[in-house]
Amino acid sequence: MDIQLTEEQRQVRDLCREFADRELKPHARRWDRDHEFPAAAVKQLGEMGLMGVAVPAEWGGAGMDNVSYALAMEEISRGCAGTGVIMSVSNSLYCDPVLKYGSDAQRKEFLEPYARGEKLGCFALTEPMSGSDAAEMRTVAVRRGDEYVLDGTKNFITNGPQADAVLVFAMTDKAKRHKGISAFLVPTDARGFSRGKPDDKVGIRASGSCSLFFEGCAIPARHRLGEEGDGFKIAMGTLDGGRIGIAGQALGIAVAAFEEAVAYAKERKAFGQPITQFQAIQFMLADMATEIDAARLLVLRAASAKDRGVRHSAESAMAKLFASEMSERVTSKAIQIHGGYGYVKEFDVERHWRDSRITEIYEGTSEIQRLVISASVLKG
Ligand code: CAA
Ligand code: FAD
Repeated sequence: MDIQLTEEQRQVRDLCREFADRELKPHARRWDRDHEFPAAAVKQLGEMGLMGVAVPAEWGGAGMDNVSYALAMEEISRGCAGTGVIMSVSNSLYCDPVLKYGSDAQRKEFLEPYARGEKLGCFALTEPMSGSDAAEMRTVAVRRGDEYVLDGTKNFITNGPQADAVLVFAMTDKAKRHKGISAFLVPTDARGFSRGKPDDKVGIRASGSCSLFFEGCAIPARHRLGEEGDGFKIAMGTLDGGRIGIAGQALGIAVAAFEEAVAYAKERKAFGQPITQFQAIQFMLADMATEIDAARLLVLRAASAKDRGVRHSAESAMAKLFASEMSERVTSKAIQIHGGYGYVKEFDVERHWRDSRITEIYEGTSEIQRLVISASVLKG
């Protein structure tokens, strides 16, 4: 892998960094406190091409590569992790599969306005009784003439409260287990569709998630994405890309906490000297810097494998596993370096710690990443 960034990749990173400092960082604390969706910032992300970074320009996207996307995810999440996951779901979990598996008619209706950021999509796999064991879903889709009728509940769906369309997975043939799952694009004004109240979360509180209910929800058969029975592979392949986005998010959160810890350590004095003079603090900073760089290399490796079009399940799982666990360690150390001030809301490090926690859970828990990685190791 060539780890030298191209001029375009550097420009995207710098542009996102500037945008995050100007438009996200100053508001992130309030969005977190009020559980407020950053509508104006999301609109700006759309105008900058960041809601469909790797979608070709002809379908409304920025036409860039996945390395650029990963860099953008880090920088945006450094500014606001909640905004980061809104962007990640739009790019990786919604636009990417519609681009890859959609017909031109589906791309026109369900991709173009979404990649432009004019509309928002979401990805609904998890159910109340099935999260890690995704194939165990109970939502069904029954074909009736030119329609499918969907019944079931999806849980914890990011962007669910705001979404204009849902990429939803449902059983079309229960007897075939994962081979009986199909994918559908459901506009949220469809009859029989409704949403639960937004979840009250520990972190990433600028982003909204909720349950989605399908009760006799009829959609035209042409809204099926891919063939009947392709749904599980579409979901799994999509998550291979999504995990790169979440790894980038975890990395951005860690970088924010690290930068704040360095700045604080330089200012704070104890025993008559800046705390940076203590080796205990120096070593924490050294470990944090090393882990951040290691995570970034894994993220860029996974993104570059996706750009080369090779299967990257293990690379993405490693990037997500390491970056998310690293992010929790680094944000926790940032609190330690702040002492008591790290534990109150006057400083942002407590938010970074809360934000980091979810990255070890969604898009596959750390245990599931270890399953994916070990399966690849054992297969050779
Ligand atoms: N790409 C393509 N195909 C894949 C695949 C991949 N990455 N992974 C598995 N498959 C295929 C397998 O090859 C197999 O195909 P065949 O039947 O033809 O042989 C089939 O899928 C079934 O594979 P497994 O037997 O490995 O499936 P499993 O039922 O044991 O599950 C799992 C495997 C890895 C645990 C999977 O269920 C999983 O990833 N679970 C976690 C779910 C998850 O990540 N949910 C995230 C929801 S979205 C979200 O969280 C968004 C957000 O927060 C913002
Ligand atoms: P479970 O699957 O019940 O797991 C419980 C525990 O058992 C975990 O520790 C897990 O690692 C462990 N475990 C389970 N199976 C195994 C195993 N085989 N080996 C070892 N350990 C195992 N889902 C979506 O579809 N779309 C979204 O947009 C979305 N956004 C989310 C946003 C938030 C804020 C949250 C909290 C969740 C979101 N999710 C979304 C759901 C998320 O992906 C699931 O919560 C996650 O996959 C875990 O599933 P679960 O909660 O059912 O836990």
